[in-house]
Amino acid sequence: MATNFVTVTDHKSGKSVELEVMEPTQGSPIIDLRALHRELGLYAYDPGFTVTASCWSEITYLDGENGLLQYRGYPIEQLVEHSSFIETCFLLLCGHLPTAAELELFSAEVTRESLLQEEMKRFFEGFRSNAHPMAIMVGVVGALSAFYHDFQDIRDPKNRKLSAKLLIAKMPTIAAWSYRYANGLPFEYPRSDYSYVENFLHMMFSLPTVDYKPEPLFVRALEVVMIAHADHEQNASTSTVRLAGSSEANPFASIAAGIASLWGPAHGGANEAVIRMLMEMRDTGKPMQHYVDRAKDKKDRFRLMGFGHRIYKNYDPRAKILRDLCYQVVEKCEMGGENRKLLELALELETLALKDDYFKQRKLYPNVDFYSGIILLTIGIPLNMFTVIFAMARTVGWISQWNEMMGDANSKIGRPRQLYVGAKHRDYQPVWQREPADE
Ligand code: SDX
Repeated sequence: MATNFVTVTDHKSGKSVELEVMEPTQGSPIIDLRALHRELGLYAYDPGFTVTASCWSEITYLDGENGLLQYRGYPIEQLVEHSSFIETCFLLLCGHLPTAAELELFSAEVTRESLLQEEMKRFFEGFRSNAHPMAIMVGVVGALSAFYHDFQDIRDPKNRKLSAKLLIAKMPTIAAWSYRYANGLPFEYPRSDYSYVENFLHMMFSLPTVDYKPEPLFVRALEVVMIAHADHEQNASTSTVRLAGSSEANPFASIAAGIASLWGPAHGGANEAVIRMLMEMRDTGKPMQHYVDRAKDKKDRFRLMGFGHRIYKNYDPRAKILRDLCYQVVEKCEMGGENRKLLELALELETLALKDDYFKQRKLYPNVDFYSGIILLTIGIPLNMFTVIFAMARTVGWISQWNEMMGDANSKIGRPRQLYVGAKHRDYQPVWQREPADE
């Protein structure tokens, strides 16, 4: 029963409508705008969906003002401390923490599905050897739909759960093989005696000539990075997956759409862009203030990568977690010398920016991408694999949100409207009557 309403009055027509205010279990109340057009014939304008809820969801809750993040109600700080990535996958997909038996079964099912059809190797071989691994990943994930026809009925929850497990299982193999192919290395197969993250590192770095054992510190660090990246409410790539999936496109194509959206430097590509920015700062030796001033200069397109967020107007809780982890990993690794310099630059930049009125007034803080790259570099992950890692971790969030949407009998195809500001009606003119158009 709605207890609160807002009234909207169209002063031109004199008509009014009462819009229900919907109360969430956590977060800000939300106005149900659907009566706006039904009663007043009006649409709402909100480019970039900055104040628009596109759906209901039970999966992830963010509090941007207070810097909170919860998966199914569990604070991210507790999950990175106590959980594993595969357990977090179960939580996001199924809605509750698994029993020991449930976790063992889920983990075994995912491991069993981590192989790719042998024919898929030809997809990798079709790319130029210097292809960006994200280009390979987006192509190969979309191609998965060519191999799984037997459960096209995605309204069946069993089929949705199966496609979720397939995608969660195969992403590390696709990610690692994208790296292997781009570096002229033979493909490594997953092992049944390795955990999810151990298997990924094994497939990335094992060689026929080298008996690689995943370093426990790196496994733990990557678990934390992946848990922190697993889901994040209705961000650009998740909204892309929901919109693609709303047409009932198959889950593999919908996830491929999400990967494409994540690739942009304003979104998942920022982790790679942060390192390139820090490396430029290191190599030019220019004072940090030079970059802070450039970021504030409206005539300069330069932005501090890894800074700012659409939702967090406080410190991104994931950035806090990854900053602490960054210290630990860099301190413990002798190769951290190179990366220790990047960490020192990052800390100096953060300190400078957070004291600057421009950043304080706009509530611009480090986000998840600001420290994650230094951790990945220290683990030995190359720069062009950073967003691939992000996509590998975010796949469970995407497919959990897709599953939630497809499980809603009332879900319908997404179809935003527009504010049309183009030409009014005009008639076609024969070419001999036309004047050159004004540029
Ligand atoms: C992710 O949505 C999610 O949840 C995403 C994500 C997830 O887990 O899925 O959290 C992952 O994408 C993190 C963000 C990674 N991107 C970057 O780090 C790129 C750098 N950051 C920005 O481009 C920007 O902060 C965004 C894109 C992240 C957010 O942009 P908004 O919310 O659209 O903010 P805005 O562009 O309207 O900026 C508001 C003001 C503007 O100045 P004014 O016009 O008010 O004068 O802040 C300025 C902006 O110019 N600003 C920055 C800045 N970010 C915003 N100025 C300098 N450097 C920056 N990084």
